[in-house]
Amino acid sequence: MASVLVLNGPNLNLLGTRKPEVYGRTTLADVEELCRQTAGKLGLDVDFRQSNHEGQLIDWIHEAGPAVRAGELIGAVYNPGAHTHTSVAIRDAIEGVSLPVIECHISNVHAREEFRHHSFISPVARGIIVGFGVLGYALAIEGLHRLGADNG
Ligand code: DQA
Repeated sequence: MASVLVLNGPNLNLLGTRKPEVYGRTTLADVEELCRQTAGKLGLDVDFRQSNHEGQLIDWIHEAGPAVRAGELIGAVYNPGAHTHTSVAIRDAIEGVSLPVIECHISNVHAREEFRHHSFISPVARGIIVGFGVLGYALAIEGLHRLGADNG
């Protein structure tokens, strides 16, 4: 059974208690369960990960590119958190392994502070989902599935 990789960047481990007026009260464990349910209906497994460390995320992205080519993964749903607005290295990693990524943000970053309006990730993303709350993860999995495995 193929999998979808769900990656979460810095501070997303705090989901549920961090700024609930912006991110809601759902925890990351709840998001993982939502992803499993959504992916399960599509016949997919979920590889769900979170790290606060840029290098760790880059290593996972590097592993994911070949896994897509091997037919083990359909791609990644990725909420890069604040790395969205800072990380050329993560952008280069995604581009470097041609990983099909759906960039996903819980909040509508465009309705927030100016520094959240720019994303280094969007130019190398296959698609972008913004502002749907945690439902965005489910929409992103479904979208990635419908786009097909290898047209990233
Ligand atoms: C976020 C938006 C980012 O600007 C922020 O740094 C996050 C979460 C979101 O899901 O809305 O950590 O990616």
